[in-house]
Order: sequence, then C-alpha cells, then structure tokens
Amino acid sequence: MSVLDGLRIGFGEDAHALVPDRRLMLGGVEVPSLRGAAAHSDGDALLHALADALLSSLALGDIGVYYPPSNPAYRDMDSREIVTRCLGTLHSREAELINAALVVTLDTPKLGPYRTDIASNVAALLTLSPECVGLGFKTSEGLAPNHVQARATVLVRVR
Ligand code: C5P
Ligand code: MG
Repeated sequence: MSVLDGLRIGFGEDAHALVPDRRLMLGGVEVPSLRGAAAHSDGDALLHALADALLSSLALGDIGVYYPPSNPAYRDMDSREIVTRCLGTLHSREAELINAALVVTLDTPKLGPYRTDIASNVAALLTLSPECVGLGFKTSEGLAPNHVQARATVLVRVR
C-alpha cells in the first residue's frame, strides 16, 4: 500500500487566435480586452485546457472527441458546461479531483488584476477550495502576440 495508490495526473493545453470583436473568456470570466478568442465555442482556452486535463487523467481522450467543433450543437457553447460534464465523468468513474494547476500565456492585456476572480470562479466550478487552484500568468515575450494559450495539470484520485 503506497500513498500514491490511485493517484493520476492529467494534463491539457489549448490555444486560440486573438481577433477583434470577440470576447476574451478565461476561466469563465470575461476579461476586458481589445481582442478575444476566435473559436466556434466561447473560446475559453483555460477551461478547454482544464477539461482536457480532467479527461486525460483517466486516459479518456480530449474534448474534441466529445464536443467536436464540426457539430453545430456545440456552437458558442459555454465552456463551464464542458468542464462540469468532464468533472461529472470523473465522478461517475469513482475519481475525485484533488487540485488543479493552471497557466495562461498571453502578452496583453495584463491578467494579474483578474487572478482572484478567475481562480475563485474555476475553484467553484470544480467544487475545490481556492487554495487547491493554482493560477499563473506568463507573457510569450512577444513570440506569440496573436494567441492566447493555456495549460492545465490536475491531480486525481481513483477510489
Ligand atoms: O511572462 P513574464 O514572466 O514576463 O510575466 C511577468 C509577470 O506578468 C508575471 O508575474 C505575470 O503574473 C504577469 N502577467 C500578467 N498578465 C499577463 C502576462 C503576465 O499579469 N497577460
Ligand atoms: Mg479551445
């Protein structure tokens, strides 16, 4: 018997192009921005990376398998719903989420002022306490000025 029994790591990432006249959604929070994510959904790269991380922890593929962009039913879908469903999938397989570690890479706007909002929103969505949701921001140092990117790691325990 080891403390590692049943523990699984999940990892996910996502990127969207930044274009005018679109909202910039991150972790279910609308961030004021001159440009937003080009996407058939709400383009929330952070929640898409998180949903992929949840699925990957149990080797269940990625959200494209369940919510294909080609299906008009998922047009402008609220990404919070995708995360909630992926979490439900984990629960139905006797798995519980322990924590999530998230990083958004974006040159502008600055996200620091929204850290508490985004982290608490994601924590509520995951039914985790705020200290179980780490959220970092990075610029691309100008290397990817026209993209928003996100990466997510989760720790899961299977009973
Ligand atoms: O990428 P870099 O290391 O230069 O980021 C410096 C700081 O800027 C970090 O502390 C990060 O939290 C913050 N940042 C931010 N909003 C961004 C990118 C970075 O607040 N869009
Ligand atoms: Mg996406």
